[in-house]
Amino acid sequence: MNLESILFTQGFGSRRQCRALINDARVSIGGTLCTDADADFPTDDASFCFSVDGVVWPYRERAYLLLNKPAGYECSRDPQHHLSVFSLLPPQFAERGVQCVGRLDQDTTGLLLLSDDGKFVHMFTSPKRKVPKVYAATTRHAIDDAQLSALRNGVLLHGESKPVAAVAADARGEHTLALTVMEGKYHQVKRMIAAAGNRCEALHRERVGGLALPATLAPGAWQWLDETDLGSLRSG
Ligand code: URA
Repeated sequence: MNLESILFTQGFGSRRQCRALINDARVSIGGTLCTDADADFPTDDASFCFSVDGVVWPYRERAYLLLNKPAGYECSRDPQHHLSVFSLLPPQFAERGVQCVGRLDQDTTGLLLLSDDGKFVHMFTSPKRKVPKVYAATTRHAIDDAQLSALRNGVLLHGESKPVAAVAADARGEHTLALTVMEGKYHQVKRMIAAAGNRCEALHRERVGGLALPATLAPGAWQWLDETDLGSLRSG
């Protein structure tokens, strides 16, 4: 693929802007400046990288990302009341069409997937595909066995015709519980906890499928997902 197309597909602006970056000697391959926008490079080589203004980027045909979402950010490119999660990411991701894979509320923290692969986004957000999602919830009132049973057996949410059950609901402390749900309904976990007779004060997503939020990833930080991560995601 030629260098202009590499930058363009990776979200570094319009073709004209990408050509300008190259002409202005801001792009290097393997540590060597390349000012030829038509020069060809082997992007099918998984280790192929390029750098723009000294920052190294791997070439990825599709972007699969994981963000440790902090509280106070909306999963929208056009946020209403808070900052957008996209303000935590390099701008080229939004430019190349990366979107959130499902949404977390502005005050929910933890594992958020993002991608520009439409099929992948659809696969993990489709109501037909049941993917387990593990949340740690902090509650206002002490959790009791009746609430845990209600969550496991199913609670009827306002506006729904059938009860929704957690695949697992286990107390971790007096005011904390781990809850696994398969669906991705609007405010689902908070509504389930409310329907069980408590109130969710804080919510953190720990896992989607078999993929856990890495303990080393700080709130607000992001990372690429590799093939192993994508395999874990599907295996959950
Ligand atoms: N359930 C909720 O209530 N909120 C989230 O952000 C995710 C799941």
